[in-house]
Amino acid sequence: MYVITVFTSIGGFLFGYDTGVVSGSILFIETEYNLSSFEIELFVSIAVAGAIVGSIISGPVSDKLGRKKSISFSAILFVGGSIVLGFAPKYSALIVGRFIVGFAIGVAANVVPLYIAEISPAKYRGSLVTINNLCITSGQFISYLVASGFSHVNEGWRYTLGLAAIPALIMFFGMVFIVPESPRWLYLMGQEDEAISILKRIRNTDDVEEEVQEIKESRVSSGMSQFKSILYDRVIRRALLIGCSLQFFQQFCGINTVMYYSASIIKMAGINDNSKAVWFSTAVAGANAVFTVVSLFLIDRVGRRKLLLSTMIGMIAGLLFLGLAFFFSYRDPKSTGIFAIVSLVLYVAFFATGMGPIPWAVNSEIYPSNFRGIGCGIATTVNWSANLVVSFTFLSYVNAVTPSGAFWTYAGIGIVAWVVIYFILPETKGKSIEQIQQSFSNKSTPTHTPSHPSTQLE
Ligand code: BGC
Repeated sequence: MYVITVFTSIGGFLFGYDTGVVSGSILFIETEYNLSSFEIELFVSIAVAGAIVGSIISGPVSDKLGRKKSISFSAILFVGGSIVLGFAPKYSALIVGRFIVGFAIGVAANVVPLYIAEISPAKYRGSLVTINNLCITSGQFISYLVASGFSHVNEGWRYTLGLAAIPALIMFFGMVFIVPESPRWLYLMGQEDEAISILKRIRNTDDVEEEVQEIKESRVSSGMSQFKSILYDRVIRRALLIGCSLQFFQQFCGINTVMYYSASIIKMAGINDNSKAVWFSTAVAGANAVFTVVSLFLIDRVGRRKLLLSTMIGMIAGLLFLGLAFFFSYRDPKSTGIFAIVSLVLYVAFFATGMGPIPWAVNSEIYPSNFRGIGCGIATTVNWSANLVVSFTFLSYVNAVTPSGAFWTYAGIGIVAWVVIYFILPETKGKSIEQIQQSFSNKSTPTHTPSHPSTQLE
């Protein structure tokens, strides 16, 4: 289980690395190609656009071809995109390379957590999916370090961007030779013997009868088309409401203003030295990775709902303090700069423990088997579209309402998010994927899995 999780989570690492790497390499690319601000924005945003397209197609593709082939496909794209970036002879090749890498990120962001959830035992599912998030945050942190390491090398940005091909190759070979197809997907495709034999292998026991029974009873199609079931099937509608709201709020709490612009935020707060600002932003990314480990230990013990609602309070406080730091920065820039950094770390630490991993974990477990690819794909598309809106309005929004106004806006959205999540998110800790769906179709949460799948329509 752990070996499989680690190989597939390289997809998470590349998601983090390729999103984090922009801030460290763009300064050098800008100088080399003499880029206008539109060209810089295009370089940054084309990957997010690629991720949106990748996440849209990832649902149908992972349902049709399977989880394993979809993740292997994203690995090939990561290799290809990184090579194009590393050897790019001109700016237009960089744009093509970033789009390919973004596309791969969109596919991996959706299919990797979904696959891990499908092969995990209920008891450890949250932690195993959170390993993928740990890889995202470590990827972001390592990309900052690699970018600083190559900052004194001639055309060092080529190495920074191109080196991502190495983990992508390892992932590809791991996917082809080590990682098996998801037994749940095989079952859905009618390949029962293959599914059972894989389940025995990954559980390291022949006693898989109970789990096979659960998979058999897993709620499948009501006979409606996927589009119709979005409109009329209560379980699917409820799952989509929860999944998309979590992904929407994850982004509208402003996390990627910090991940993409932390050095600029630190400079805005009065720390004028460039290298100090980069160093502090690396520390913020480090805190993000460290606190994801805390989440790894808590998610299956405390539960998704409790952990998310409690850490959101710290996250909102961090945003309010950050706004305060900017509010007072005009009076005493030096000490408010430090206050801003402490608030940033506070915000990121609470985000990494709750709002970072939990939307991914919950999405991977709430959809019925035959809707999981599509459901996670829709929610992942919401995530990337919201990311695009927030990260590319950030600088102009700061100009319009000041930095304090911007961070207080994200804090306000955080408060709305807390209330919405309080009302819509049930606890899914320790339940099998099948029991979660069952609890959605009943008004009250059942204590057992029924022996016949039911489909409730409205
Ligand atoms: C989010 C990313 C974000 C990252 C920060 C992930 O859960 O989906 O948008 O950059 O956390 O670590």
